[in-house]
Amino acid sequence: MPSSSWFFTTLLCFFDVAFAGDPFVFFDWTVTYITASPLGVKQKVIGINGNFPGPILNVTTNWNVVVNVKNNLDEPLLLTWNGVQNRKNSWQDGVSGTNCPIPAGWNWTYEFQVKDQIGSFFYFPSLNFQRAAGGYGGIIINNREVIPVPFGLPDGDITIFLSDWYTKSHKELKKNVEDGIDLGTPDGVLINGFGPYRYDDVLVPEGISYQIINVEPGKTYRFRVHNVGISTSLNFRIQNHNLLLVETEGSYTVQQNYANMDIHVGQSYSFLVTMDQNASTDYYIVASPQFVNSSSWARATGVAILHYSNSQGPASGPLPSLSDENNAYVSMNQARSIRWNVTAGAARPNPQGSFKYGQITVTDVYLIVNRPPELINGKWRTTLNGISYLPPSTPLTLAQQFKIPGIYKIDFPNKLMNRPSKVDTSLINGTYRGFMEIIFQNNDTTVQTYHLDGYAFFIVGMDFGVWTEDSRSTYNKWDGVARSTTQVFPGAWTAILVSLDNSGIWNLRAENLNSWYLGQEVYLQVVNPENDSTESPLPENAIYCGLLSSLQKDQSHKFQFSATSNIHSNFFVILVMSFLALLGNFS
Ligand SMILES: *[C@@H]1O[C@H](CO)[C@@H](O)[C@H](O)[C@H]1NC(C)=O
Ligand SMILES: *[C@@H]1O[C@H](CO)[C@@H](O)[C@H](O)[C@H]1NC(C)=O
Ligand SMILES: *[C@@H]1O[C@H](CO)[C@@H](O)[C@H](O)[C@H]1NC(C)=O
Ligand SMILES: *[C@@H]1O[C@H](CO)[C@@H](O)[C@H](O)[C@H]1NC(C)=O
Ligand SMILES: *[C@@H]1O[C@H](CO)[C@@H](O)[C@H](O)[C@H]1NC(C)=O
Ligand SMILES: *[C@@H]1O[C@H](CO)[C@@H](O)[C@H](O)[C@H]1NC(C)=O
Ligand SMILES: *[C@@H]1O[C@H](CO)[C@@H](O)[C@H](O)[C@H]1NC(C)=O
Ligand SMILES: *[C@@H]1O[C@H](CO)[C@@H](O)[C@H](O)[C@H]1NC(C)=O
Repeated sequence: MPSSSWFFTTLLCFFDVAFAGDPFVFFDWTVTYITASPLGVKQKVIGINGNFPGPILNVTTNWNVVVNVKNNLDEPLLLTWNGVQNRKNSWQDGVSGTNCPIPAGWNWTYEFQVKDQIGSFFYFPSLNFQRAAGGYGGIIINNREVIPVPFGLPDGDITIFLSDWYTKSHKELKKNVEDGIDLGTPDGVLINGFGPYRYDDVLVPEGISYQIINVEPGKTYRFRVHNVGISTSLNFRIQNHNLLLVETEGSYTVQQNYANMDIHVGQSYSFLVTMDQNASTDYYIVASPQFVNSSSWARATGVAILHYSNSQGPASGPLPSLSDENNAYVSMNQARSIRWNVTAGAARPNPQGSFKYGQITVTDVYLIVNRPPELINGKWRTTLNGISYLPPSTPLTLAQQFKIPGIYKIDFPNKLMNRPSKVDTSLINGTYRGFMEIIFQNNDTTVQTYHLDGYAFFIVGMDFGVWTEDSRSTYNKWDGVARSTTQVFPGAWTAILVSLDNSGIWNLRAENLNSWYLGQEVYLQVVNPENDSTESPLPENAIYCGLLSSLQKDQSHKFQFSATSNIHSNFFVILVMSFLALLGNFS
């Protein structure tokens, strides 16, 4: 049979680059514009296989993930896997510094292993402000069966995406940001791609579809909540229900109840929620903007419905209020209260806390100051330590591989220099197996979140004011949580520690799209001086661009849209199913 021989050939060619024995899963995703009206206004959103949000990548520690991405947009595309570490394989990271963009009408197959990770993450399109149009979806990495999860198996698993949303297209928003025009108040906040429930006749127009989460009384569900928005910090809460925090971005936390949680752009949390109410009505699920003028931002509130199967009627009345709204001190204390469960195992059987990060000597210190947008050479730019990142047309990884000089410099300053801001391609030199301390000092007037690809870092300190060497005496050296995205409050600092054991070229960025797009990012280069056979080589299907364009075989990756595309995706489903069945037979 041709299909099974194709199947085995495909399997074989992956074996030499990944770890034999770990399962493979295959996905075939077509990225297209679809028409949707989440806020009652028709607009083009980015869907995957016709869905917005996209499918959930539901995998288990150490699985090999193969995603064939077909770009049917009218512009180049890259998907990035926010929080997935892609160990020793920045070739699959899907940001402008690591990959040539997939041109419109082309496809590209990502292939990576979710090595030594568990937890809740998401993916999104990383170029050209596209996340403002959607294109995002969830990533779940389950524990291997041999490693116990530090709580009982929930009765259900529910993913929630929160995003501030504009009815303007991502292209218009991008143009505004380039022109120094403030994004202004969002037109709404979406929950799983839906607009708000009509909790208020004045604020919410008629005819908006909203998200309903159906639950059974007495059961406990795991809610994986992601802020995939553009730039708004959102407070998440469920009327009358406690949120038992259990996990954030791949770390099991000390389990604590919260009435609500501030979730900043790019952050992910898992909560256990028990349906312990009497269902006299449905309940509101709310995502309200924080640290803004609440009266002028009132229409930008996300509202979904929690519906018990025995509910007596619709939710009504005012939304559950916040006693400490817009209070950055309260929000910072909440962030500081999130701790690592040092005795729980995660991706490996040994407890998380057996990595005693507080006892490791720091080898490199970077004090990174961000500034609000400023004009540099007549253009609106944002900076980190006075440098606004300029993406080269040849990705950094390819420039390094082909030893092309002059594309980038490895001279990112370890503090703000006393010199005018500039636009440059300047990298951080990370010492392989070193231990880096990074302090983010937010000189802007809004909350910023920073994310590092390839790593989880320990959040050891956070405070208002200006960081000094004395601030180190306040560091949490025992159970600071390891994650990949941290908030930095305005006029405040956040300190992180990171063990540089993952070689590659890794993106450190503002998750706030406007700050990122104008230049708030830098890459961290970590080179293993020895020839490491576990480092992934240049992928055979690499796309070439910039100075290496001539290496690209013309049109060879172009795909055709045709009526057979559905048959094709069904074929993939059959493929995955037969492969899983095969695995079942072998184990
Ligand atoms: C993920 O897949 C596992 C099987 O590997 C299944 O038990 C679980 O229900 C799935 N979770 C979701 C959210 O689909
Ligand atoms: C594009 O997709 C086809 C299958 O549809 C696959 O054979 C090919 O390898 C993909 N191209 C790249 C560059 O991944
Ligand atoms: C931490 O993890 C352990 C081990 O799985 C678990 O028994 C314990 O309940 C957790 N502790 C807290 C406070 O969450
Ligand atoms: C249900 O609970 C609410 C408060 O949680 C209470 O006000 C109400 O009286 C209860 N209704 C019934 C029928 O017990
Ligand atoms: C908040 O917005 C409302 C309505 O636009 C306005 O009347 C009020 O002055 C604003 N308050 C502040 C503190 O800016
Ligand atoms: C980067 O740091 C390593 C030591 O960790 C050093 O050997 C190397 O010369 C540095 N590279 C640059 C360009 O500074
Ligand atoms: C930014 O830095 C300047 C000094 O360089 C300081 O006066 C100002 O208060 C800072 N602003 C914030 C929000 O940190
Ligand atoms: C690195 O080691 C591999 C074998 O593990 C070998 O094939 C390759 O030539 C080596 N490369 C260099 C630059 O030494």
